[in-house]
Amino acid sequence: MKSQQKCIVIFALVCCFAVLVALIFSAVDIWGEDEDGITEENCESSCRAVLVENIPEDVPFADNSTSHLPLSQGLYNLLDQALRVVEIVSPLWLLNSSDYESSFQPAARQGRALLSRLQGLKDRKILLRIASGRPDSSELITLSKYAEVHYLNMTALTKGHLSSSFWVIDNKHFYIGSASMDWRSLATRKELGLVVYNCSCLALDLHKVFNLYWGLQYKDFIPTFWSKRLFALFNRDQPLELTLNSTKARAYVSTSPDILIPKDRSSDLEAISRVIMDARRFIYISITDYLPLFGMNSNRYWSRIDGFIREALLLRKVRVRLLISCWENTHPLTFNFIWSLRSLCMEQVNCSLEAKFFRPRELSNGNIQGINHNRFMVTDRAIYLGNLDWVGNEFSSNAGAGLVISQSDDEDDRNSTIVDQLRIAFERDWFSRHTHSLQANKIPICNKQRTNRLAPLKLPHHGNINDEKPAPIRKKEEGIITRHYTDKSQKNTHQDATGGLVIENYQERGQVKTSHHDNKKLHMNVNDQDSEGDTAGQTVESSGSREICNLPL
Ligand SMILES: *[C@@H]1O[C@H](CO)[C@@H](O)[C@H](O)[C@H]1NC(C)=O
Ligand SMILES: *[C@@H]1O[C@H](CO)[C@@H](O)[C@H](O)[C@H]1NC(C)=O
Ligand SMILES: *[C@@H]1O[C@H](CO)[C@@H](O)[C@H](O)[C@H]1NC(C)=O
Ligand SMILES: *[C@@H]1O[C@H](CO)[C@@H](O)[C@H](O)[C@H]1NC(C)=O
Ligand SMILES: *[C@@H]1O[C@H](CO)[C@@H](O)[C@H](O)[C@H]1NC(C)=O
Ligand SMILES: *[C@@H]1O[C@H](CO)[C@@H](O)[C@H](O)[C@H]1NC(C)=O
Ligand SMILES: *[C@@H]1O[C@H](CO)[C@@H](O)[C@H](O)[C@H]1NC(C)=O
Repeated sequence: MKSQQKCIVIFALVCCFAVLVALIFSAVDIWGEDEDGITEENCESSCRAVLVENIPEDVPFADNSTSHLPLSQGLYNLLDQALRVVEIVSPLWLLNSSDYESSFQPAARQGRALLSRLQGLKDRKILLRIASGRPDSSELITLSKYAEVHYLNMTALTKGHLSSSFWVIDNKHFYIGSASMDWRSLATRKELGLVVYNCSCLALDLHKVFNLYWGLQYKDFIPTFWSKRLFALFNRDQPLELTLNSTKARAYVSTSPDILIPKDRSSDLEAISRVIMDARRFIYISITDYLPLFGMNSNRYWSRIDGFIREALLLRKVRVRLLISCWENTHPLTFNFIWSLRSLCMEQVNCSLEAKFFRPRELSNGNIQGINHNRFMVTDRAIYLGNLDWVGNEFSSNAGAGLVISQSDDEDDRNSTIVDQLRIAFERDWFSRHTHSLQANKIPICNKQRTNRLAPLKLPHHGNINDEKPAPIRKKEEGIITRHYTDKSQKNTHQDATGGLVIENYQERGQVKTSHHDNKKLHMNVNDQDSEGDTAGQTVESSGSREICNLPL
């Protein structure tokens, strides 16, 4: 009798165990995916890297300034190298510019050209795989005749967006950078990225990130167990040792957000913190939005990156340069926070924070062309290229990927490494006539349209960077062009009488906030004084502070 009971108990336990194992494996094996024989052991790590940039035609730099391979050319080169499979993640798909856009902006045709190249892959018997967070994209619906498309429901997974932007070709070559599959990235926006050839070690690691997205198709929960195949090969503590254009380097891929990170991978914030911590002499940051708030519409302070910078600046005396974009979505408090960083250096020797904003060209009709959409950081020994803006919720809810490459800074070959090249690109932007120093006691108005919201909104415009559904330029019957805001700004928008979307009370809110934080000297100045040809040394300090020391580079 006793032994019978024992038997039943053991049998029940065995059953439970079997069910558990089955559950675990069902969770894991959804991710099954062959890596076609390339493994951590036999992958290539003598790579070639090429910086690619899109510089809009109307954002000219001096003729003798450095230029890099055009982004479209870099992407074409990658497609030419493809033999088997092209994998693409992009926050949005909007390559097919409308006839109107192409006639207005000839470079917009490059988007169409790239789209037809992608469609041509099918004839070359090359598989095109796309992971997207936008099931409503009409372009992807058309493209699905030529490609396998997997959709992620990021709302259900993280309440965020898929902001990752990279390509992986045959697990061998890859692209990562700020551009998305948007004609504006090939035409009117300033973008920067990196194309890396013959680098299966890193490509394989990025492919694992792609596979994670691929496997999350239509899931509305994040699995508790990740397949071993998704574990990172390299991270900030164990980077890949590689040669890049025959120079020694170390590299790894980072991702966000934390809940989408399987074992061993470093998060973007960990990568950023390490790159900042390792800097000895300088940190140059070029970013579209820099805001130590949890989100654009948030009142929560978010100090992670701001804290890293404060430490580097004040406690380690690393010189910091911040180049941020001044564009229609720039949060008015951005400049208050930057002033606060600047004033940290008061009365401190060898403490230097300089900030400039990249103000694109303003056309005679008051519209802005050529947003600096770059998202990178370069220090004396490393680079970080990412997909996310430096605002809290981007890191906590949006999916993004980053690449860190570090190289020892040899005095011998000062401008041959990728780190040097990126620094030179940053300096070109920094000293160009498109950037402006912050003026004492003045907050630049980056979005004049908002101040004057009853004026008809005119073309040409870049919508929100993550704006996909509506074409960025729309022609209405009467020929009036309306602009559309989505995503982050949607909460502030309402349909106005003329059918266009207009930001509601944005500037007003900004002003209220500003005066709230009070500072008698702070006032909004509509005629922000763009001092042309300003150089770094002239950056003005906030009242009461003294610029004591500028470290030589
Ligand atoms: C480019 O040319 C301008 C004037 O012709 C000169 O002032 C500047 O130093 C040059 N820049 C470089 C990097 O050679
Ligand atoms: C791109 O848009 C044009 C119309 O503007 C349309 O005729 C064409 O089919 C579209 N191409 C693709 C690939 O969607
Ligand atoms: C995504 O998930 C949200 C919340 O679970 C749901 O409301 C929405 O319908 C889903 N979207 C799609 C396209 O499945
Ligand atoms: C990649 O490697 C192949 C074969 O080793 C070589 O033929 C090719 O030129 C390399 N590509 C680049 C961009 O260096
Ligand atoms: C400031 O920097 C200079 C040059 O790097 C160095 O010689 C000097 O000792 C530094 N001063 C302090 C107080 O760190
Ligand atoms: C570095 O670039 C400058 C011009 O920007 C050039 O004159 C110099 O020869 C380059 N040095 C090396 C080592 O390539
Ligand atoms: C690396 O090599 C490629 C191909 O030879 C070249 O186009 C690229 O500019 C080089 N990159 C660097 C950082 O020197």
